[in-house]
Amino acid sequence: GTIADQEARFRASVAAMTTTPAAPRRTPEHPPAGDRFANTTDADPALPTVRVWAADRVAARPAPLTSPVLGSVAEVDAVVAAGRAAQPAWIARPATERAALLRRAADELEARRGELVTAMAAEGGKTVAEADPEVSEAIDFARYYADRIPELDPATGHLSTDGARFTPATLTLVTPPWNFPVAIPTGGVLAALAAGSAVVIKPAHPVPACTEVAVAAVHAALAADGAPRDLLQVVRADEREVGRALVAHDGVDTVVLTGAIETARMFETWRAGRPGGPRVYAETSGKNSLVITPAADYDLAVADLVKSAFGHAGQKCSAASLVILVGSAGTSARLRRQLVDAVRSLRVGWPTDLGATMGPVIEPPEGKLRRAQTTLEPGESWVVEPRPLDESGRLWSPGVKDGVAPGSFFHLTECFGPVLGIMRARTLAEAVELQNATDFGLTGGLHSLDEEEIDYWLDHVEVGNAYVNRHITGAIVQRQPFGGWKGSAVGPGAKAGGPNYVAQLGDWDTDGVPG
Ligand code: ALA
Repeated sequence: GTIADQEARFRASVAAMTTTPAAPRRTPEHPPAGDRFANTTDADPALPTVRVWAADRVAARPAPLTSPVLGSVAEVDAVVAAGRAAQPAWIARPATERAALLRRAADELEARRGELVTAMAAEGGKTVAEADPEVSEAIDFARYYADRIPELDPATGHLSTDGARFTPATLTLVTPPWNFPVAIPTGGVLAALAAGSAVVIKPAHPVPACTEVAVAAVHAALAADGAPRDLLQVVRADEREVGRALVAHDGVDTVVLTGAIETARMFETWRAGRPGGPRVYAETSGKNSLVITPAADYDLAVADLVKSAFGHAGQKCSAASLVILVGSAGTSARLRRQLVDAVRSLRVGWPTDLGATMGPVIEPPEGKLRRAQTTLEPGESWVVEPRPLDESGRLWSPGVKDGVAPGSFFHLTECFGPVLGIMRARTLAEAVELQNATDFGLTGGLHSLDEEEIDYWLDHVEVGNAYVNRHITGAIVQRQPFGGWKGSAVGPGAKAGGPNYVAQLGDWDTDGVPG
């Protein structure tokens, strides 16, 4: 069929797969009111912007880098001052104009789809099949956050629903990760702009071109509307002391980080002692698992498990690195055979191989990932042993290890790569205990067609994003607002792509909790 036909089919099947999740429970410290309904609504059928990739649009080269590398604390001061100087003109514009600018940014991102996919493939090793929906996610963020702007209009000082006063941050620093080098930076930047703030973004060091192309799209929208370019500055800072000066700067009101929990804690330390607290808002690490019970559809479960574990070579904070098999699922020869077949059928390759279903890891593995790929802990055995596939050290075949023991290294440690561990539980209750035993609480999944099991699981699992009969990566803006619980979030914890994400990026004259 035509691309349009493919899009329509793809859109329908994604919609069919993404309506199940119910609102997850929350910790008392992460209670943004109003987010609760978000995972059960799909109120706006216009979202998401799902596309099927046309291979001829892959650009031949990544964009050349243009952003400055800050070399000194004085240069940091200058960037911060320029950002703060640009913000009053932005917030003086009517909300409708600011929203229109974000929608224009969505169109500019769409116009750069090929460049963005290419940059992700070139810098991040992301396959086209993973990179293309990431562009769609960035576009969805732009349109979704545009819709939030009238709710926060500082011109009236009111949130439309309850009359609380909103004051934007003057300058927000966004520090995105390398694994989603377009959607996460773009989402952070546009949320901060939607909240009325100026923005400085520091790309993750392996993927600056991805961020630069996304920023170019936003700059094009700013220029078309005559908004000051310094409203959004992209700077690199390779030296640790310079990076620290930026993160800790008094002129930076809020830092939006997506990265390791250790980085979030470090940023908090650097920013300790400010009035109002460190204001580090972070989505951090995860050790995520998918539970399969005997009441599951094994065909579906295996497909979703493999997608969740090996998409982007497992390098997603949302990835499943554990499967917990309940009862007779754990002894099912069919389930095991299906899993092995599915994993072996993954085609590992560089993104230029458009048929590759799993790409490289970001750098030759060391530390935790190396240990996970090359070491068996007591009780473990390989079901599919991972091997390096070429001289680069980055291309690894997927690994599956059985016999992961409760409390062991692989049960509790995020390793961020293409290795899946199998655990077993006698009952669903035992499985949820294993699932909740980690310090993190980002994503989790259940495959079961039994309603009582689904209800039990939703009541007991401690994750920000609870998925039923669906893969556990690839949250859809608005339908599955994305955020963590326990050690997977720092700060107010409103979910990205959800109703309070923009609202948390400013000050409120009530108790600080919007809505
Ligand atoms: N938002 C990304 C996902 O859901 C991390 O996989």
